[in-house]
Amino acid sequence: MSDRNTHAPFRFHNLDELHAAIQELGLDISVQDDVSCLIQPVQLGGRTIPNAMAVQPMEGCDGEADGSPGELTYRRYRRFGAGGAGLIWFEACAVVESGRANPRQLWLHEGNKGSFALMLEECLSAARESMGAGHRPFNVLQLTHSGRYSKPGDTFVPVIAYHDPLLDQTRSVSPDQPPISDDELKRLEDAFVKSARLAFEVGFDAVDVKACHRYLNNELLSAHTRPGEFGGSYENRTRFLKECVGRIRQEFGADRVTTRMNIFDGHPYPYGWGMDAVNPNAPDLTEPKRLIRELHEGGMGLMNLTMGNPYFTPHINRPYDKPITGGNRPNEHPLVGEERLVSLTRQAREGLLGLAVIGSGYSWLRHLWPYVAAAEISRGGIQMVGMGRQAFAYPGFAKEIMETGRLDPKHTCISCSCCSQIMRQGGTAGCVPFDAEVYGPVYRG
Ligand SMILES: Cc1cc2nc3c(=O)[nH]c(=O)nc-3n(C[C@H](O)[C@H](O)[C@H](O)COP(=O)(O)O)c2cc1C
Repeated sequence: MSDRNTHAPFRFHNLDELHAAIQELGLDISVQDDVSCLIQPVQLGGRTIPNAMAVQPMEGCDGEADGSPGELTYRRYRRFGAGGAGLIWFEACAVVESGRANPRQLWLHEGNKGSFALMLEECLSAARESMGAGHRPFNVLQLTHSGRYSKPGDTFVPVIAYHDPLLDQTRSVSPDQPPISDDELKRLEDAFVKSARLAFEVGFDAVDVKACHRYLNNELLSAHTRPGEFGGSYENRTRFLKECVGRIRQEFGADRVTTRMNIFDGHPYPYGWGMDAVNPNAPDLTEPKRLIRELHEGGMGLMNLTMGNPYFTPHINRPYDKPITGGNRPNEHPLVGEERLVSLTRQAREGLLGLAVIGSGYSWLRHLWPYVAAAEISRGGIQMVGMGRQAFAYPGFAKEIMETGRLDPKHTCISCSCCSQIMRQGGTAGCVPFDAEVYGPVYRG
């Protein structure tokens, strides 16, 4: 007997077993046998995306000291390209050195744009070779400032939007550290625009002004307690994201800017975004929905929706069987986490069927995710599904679904958290069980 408040590992052999568990737990998750919608092209403005499957941004922490891709980064994007996904959302790339989350995070600047062009070209040529000359994935580069999670060198150098009593203690933020000033934020807007320009010179189709997972731009969305132009009211808290997006849109066109945005931080009000003022741990999507609608009305046609904080509430961000060392198994069944992801995303897109939304967090469902994703597409909750850990474990997932109509149970992530564990240890992240030759030794240290 399963119950919602007890964690349980994935144990379903087939769709019937998954469906029975969903019923038993009383969850609003749909499944459907027919996954053909995943392989249909998706229209985005004037562009055709070859299918409805995306690779989510997945950092490997394997760039060079100057921010260029390293050998493993090139390898990752060749594999992602060959895997056949219709859209590849390239991983977090810092707009300034001080905003890197680790000293090996990508960082794009004038001095290394040639290496980014090479990475993109290698990805595209691997896609052509594997899928045929007519297949060209849509490529988005994620632009970021890591905020309180910045670690550009050997030590953490947090940049905070405001003091958060829960998160300050996790990175030893001193009570007298000043939050980033309004003037510094305005200079940072210039850095986002400059990085966008470089990304377009390199050949990316679009850039993402990253606003998720409690990095700087996401933290600003919840800056209720911050004074000045970027805190307090809804207008002020959303100002930084809107100004970055607006300036990129004005200079390069509305179809070239998107955002990966949290719709629910899972972090109590008033310190969380998408949280209820009366019941501080419950979701309230009023503001995220308003922001999504305003960005869409301003011309944004694509958004990637996600939630949680991978450092603080990882189960909200990515349901798992096993936590990282020292992490917790939450008091919830991972299917409850899956329901939160699909149902809040569905609510966030409600009434905006012209907006292409990419859904996140499906990898725990192993070989059964295509049936849940197809059902969500049919219900109008999402238009595309994005795969994170699945892409690390078996980058060829989209090609396999296109060729066989299913995903082999041996070709899926087992949510063991080893990739996240490596990241926390400061190593180069990848799939330990299925890419063992490369990442086994990294994991073992
Ligand atoms: C090792 C690792 C690296 C990640 N890197 C990024 C990143 O660069 N940018 C981002 O927005 N999310 C990142 N994520 C989050 C994933 O994109 C995704 O939202 C999460 O893993 C849940 O999706 P999944 O169930 O398909 O794995 C990362 C996750 C992991 C485990």
